[in-house]
Amino acid sequence: MGSVDFEKYNGIWDGVPQLLGLGGLMITAALLGISKCLFGGIGVQSFPWFWPDFGIFYQRKSKKRPIRVYMDGCFDLMHYGHANALRQAKALGDQLVVGVISDEEIIANKGPPVLSMEERLILVSGIKWVDEVITNAPYEITEQFMNTLFNEYKIDYIIHGDDPCLLLDGTDAYALAKRVGRYKQIKRTEGVSSTDIVGRILSSLRCTKLDSHGNSCNGKPGTNDGKIQDEASGPIKSQLSNFLPTSRRIMQFSNCKGPSPDSRVVYIDGAFDLFHAGHVEILRCARQLGDFLLVGIHSDQIVSQRGGSSPIMHLHERSLSVLACRYVDEVIIGAPWEVTHDMINTFNISLVVHGTVSESNSAVDEKDPYTIPKSMGIFKAIASPRTSTSSSIARRIVDNLEAYKRRNLRKKESEDRYYEEKKFVSDWSL
Ligand SMILES: *[C@@H]1O[C@H](CO)[C@@H](O)[C@H](O)[C@H]1NC(C)=O
Repeated sequence: MGSVDFEKYNGIWDGVPQLLGLGGLMITAALLGISKCLFGGIGVQSFPWFWPDFGIFYQRKSKKRPIRVYMDGCFDLMHYGHANALRQAKALGDQLVVGVISDEEIIANKGPPVLSMEERLILVSGIKWVDEVITNAPYEITEQFMNTLFNEYKIDYIIHGDDPCLLLDGTDAYALAKRVGRYKQIKRTEGVSSTDIVGRILSSLRCTKLDSHGNSCNGKPGTNDGKIQDEASGPIKSQLSNFLPTSRRIMQFSNCKGPSPDSRVVYIDGAFDLFHAGHVEILRCARQLGDFLLVGIHSDQIVSQRGGSSPIMHLHERSLSVLACRYVDEVIIGAPWEVTHDMINTFNISLVVHGTVSESNSAVDEKDPYTIPKSMGIFKAIASPRTSTSSSIARRIVDNLEAYKRRNLRKKESEDRYYEEKKFVSDWSL
């Protein structure tokens, strides 16, 4: 997208006062700054992306100002569908400002969130298409908030997906923005939703439970004891992934860039299931140790063998979540368990890192996967900045199950009406 002549828009583009007005950003930076990486005292600027192309010089040169777009969301149980929405939103402008809805507003409109505000901020700020973050955004875009967006944050367009966002009274949360012609719509990402992920978590728990009684589940929920299924899932439909990985989608998420000749390549591997704030933080730490971060994502089979149960998100889904992270330069989709000489040579890996907090592995005690990098003196254990794991996140969802069921029921009623009127929406993505 190109820039527009700023004269056409009301409001004068005065970069400097605006910087001071971005209170949300400051809070974000301060919050995230708490979890520092604990190694060798290397001080690297944590948030280099907050002021991209910003300010006076750019403005003077071109007499044009960047198109600023706003998208909001709860970003609870964040998945690559959210990341894809943010990618499409970014493509509709030059700078993407994201509003993260406050805990209070989520509780009032949907029920308690699974992730804390801090975690949701880390996840959203970690997405490579996000330029700025506003904390504690309201659920409803009131006239007052819309004016704040337009005048203070210099937003040109408010973006939302074609999925409904309805207020408790059943009215459209974006009605006002639509009326004044500052609304643009993107296509929702098929194949994933928070409800679907909750369903998968329940199915996987059920498998684990059955396994301990000597039955096999083989990743096919619903083929075993129907009673357990009814109890556990209730109105939430358990299902396998509907995601159809296309090469186009992977290209859209990729940086499409290799390391430059003298870069220091850092390698980190893992399952990266249910991509969470702990993942973002360890990737940030790993990236700071070099110039190019290569992430090895273990295949579904390896995760099942080593972790004792199938991953909730499949290999391609996990790859997209990792690729959407701003600290990641490249991924290996289906990396081997052991870091081999061949890999180190193929990618010119200078350093292999591993976090101190990782998923607890099952009884399979095999050879240390890092024997080779250790023997070469290029291995480093880094202190994980956060203690959350994919299992601890899954556990929280299960603990919140009752609230989730209520939330989904309520959502369904109002969504039904919407879907009757749903029309085709063209995909704005590149
Ligand atoms: C391999 O990585 C090192 C940095 O660790 C770099 O100096 C060297 O130029 C790289 N080699 C090639 C062929 O890119």
